[in-house]
Amino acid sequence: MEPLDSLKADSIHRIRPENLLDGVDIASNFPNSTNFFNEREDIRSVIIAIDGPAGSGKSTTAREVARRTNSLYIDTGAMYRAVALFFLENGLQIETGDIGGILADVLVRLEASDKGVNVFLNGTNVNEKIRSSAVSELSSVVSRNSDVRNKMVSLQREMARKCVEGGGSVVMEGRDIGTVVFPDANFKFFLVADPKIRAQRRAAQLREKGVEANESELYQEIIDRDGRDESRALSPLKKAELAVEIDTSQLSFEEQVDNIIRVINGNG
Ligand code: DC
Repeated sequence: MEPLDSLKADSIHRIRPENLLDGVDIASNFPNSTNFFNEREDIRSVIIAIDGPAGSGKSTTAREVARRTNSLYIDTGAMYRAVALFFLENGLQIETGDIGGILADVLVRLEASDKGVNVFLNGTNVNEKIRSSAVSELSSVVSRNSDVRNKMVSLQREMARKCVEGGGSVVMEGRDIGTVVFPDANFKFFLVADPKIRAQRRAAQLREKGVEANESELYQEIIDRDGRDESRALSPLKKAELAVEIDTSQLSFEEQVDNIIRVINGNG
């Protein structure tokens, strides 16, 4: 089976579920990986980066990995969404004006909650509002701006630093966590899935909430958003060096989480 080094050389290689970690030399690729867990699976002062495109299952997986390891969960996409909501609500365009000045009025705060995280924009909880289609679209546009990225990345590093310095651990999820925000993260994962399956999952989520869903439209939205996220000049979505790639297309939620926990636990 594939050692991790050969995966590094071939960035489009997909790890099949059945051979996810067979032959991977966890100890040499992740030298700090052993004995992170105590009996309760808690880990200390560890940063786990989980990147991937929309609908790859990274948010739900990252949240559960954080819960099981008693780590702080940081959803960086929610932060870009909050910025997008600010632009939308104030009729602002990312192409024009003094973005640095505008951002001085944008206070994004994440707060851990039972369900994962609460997102605040200038003191108001925006959990629901940031999930609209309009915000999804605009978030992949505003996130191309360097002022926006610089501000979000320093916030993300600051949140993680405080947590790790206090002996806590962090599961941070996004597009550029393993490549830019924390290239030296203790563990890096890159989750992918077939776009058709991602559209089906999104449709199922919407229908569960009683919202009508058109799978072919969702598929097109996913393809468009991937295109924007992968092709942008700054911090494009891509697999980080040494990241373990997991194709979640055929995996259950439990399998996705277990695979990650096994790597962290050094039991791959
Ligand atoms: O993960 P998400 O779908 O909530 O992210 C919303 C948008 O934010 C996504 O289209 C790209 C952007 N994003 C980013 O550029 N960098 C991140 N680390 C996270 C999200």
